[in-house]
Amino acid sequence: MEKLEKYIKNAEDRLYEIFPAETLPQGDVIKAAKYSLSAGGKRIRPVLTQVFCEMCGADPVKALDTACAIEYMHTYSLIHDDLPCMDNDDLRRGKPSCHKAYGETTALLAGDALAILPFERIASSAAISPSAAVKCIRTLANLCGTAGMIGGQQIDTAMAGEELSGELLLSMYSMKTSALIKAACLCGVYCAESPEEERYVKYASEYAENLGIAFQIMDDILDVTGSTEELGKRTGNDAENDKHTYVRTYGLEKAEKAAKEYTEKALSALKAFDDSEFTEQLTRMLLGRKK
Ligand code: IPE
Ligand code: IPE
Ligand code: MG
Ligand code: MG
Ligand code: MG
Repeated sequence: MEKLEKYIKNAEDRLYEIFPAETLPQGDVIKAAKYSLSAGGKRIRPVLTQVFCEMCGADPVKALDTACAIEYMHTYSLIHDDLPCMDNDDLRRGKPSCHKAYGETTALLAGDALAILPFERIASSAAISPSAAVKCIRTLANLCGTAGMIGGQQIDTAMAGEELSGELLLSMYSMKTSALIKAACLCGVYCAESPEEERYVKYASEYAENLGIAFQIMDDILDVTGSTEELGKRTGNDAENDKHTYVRTYGLEKAEKAAKEYTEKALSALKAFDDSEFTEQLTRMLLGRKK
């Protein structure tokens, strides 16, 4: 998809703008952060930020700094997720995980740095008004905090090997995965600064909530059925860590069906936007993804 490539390139071209020089005495933490950022990744979240800005009637360039901020936050979550005290994964984005390449201490700090940088980047963006920046910052902080991504990661790790209800499993998915995807979409809406913002926020939230759950179900399916080579991360890790996943609770077949159903729900929320054809294609593509 040509348009997808364009959105990815726009974000990647600006991803490294805000970093201090690697020659500084603290250069290793900067190198480690850039190492994980540049290792690859699908860049789905920064694409969504641009796409939602455009679907709300604005030039997606307005959302570019914020899109980069979202990718920093996501990359931080992956660096920490791979640490020995979390999922203990030594492969990420087809390369040794950050802690394998730079050691645990530097990886921890690189993750911390990437968790803070988003706020500086959004606050410094010349493309949006201070009021839009505050909305983005508040939303990102809230959705990545203890009621969002961190909350989900806490349940994911603390409940491994314990009993977990189907209801709590879904709420864990919503927090650990939908929340950041929601931040990506909502920030796109805020960057557009449209008079119809309130309505767009409602449907963008509904879309992201469902897409996030479908996305995590697919991630869990791929951990069982995918190949390490294609995924760029080790398969079988969830079972090894005694993790609760949709696949483990309901089986592969039901998981595949559920991923489709959540994708359909996400797609119906897109009807509220005038030109959603590209986002629809992207959403369907994510359901069939192999990595
Ligand atoms: C992996 O996210 C973590 C989950 C929330 C499932 P992605 O599958 O988007 O990872 P990258 O960015 O492409 O590496
Ligand atoms: C990712 O869940 C959730 C995050 C917030 C990073 P996973 O632990 O399943 O992600 P992968 O499979 O390691 O990418
Ligand atoms: Mg994890
Ligand atoms: Mg993991
Ligand atoms: Mg996984």
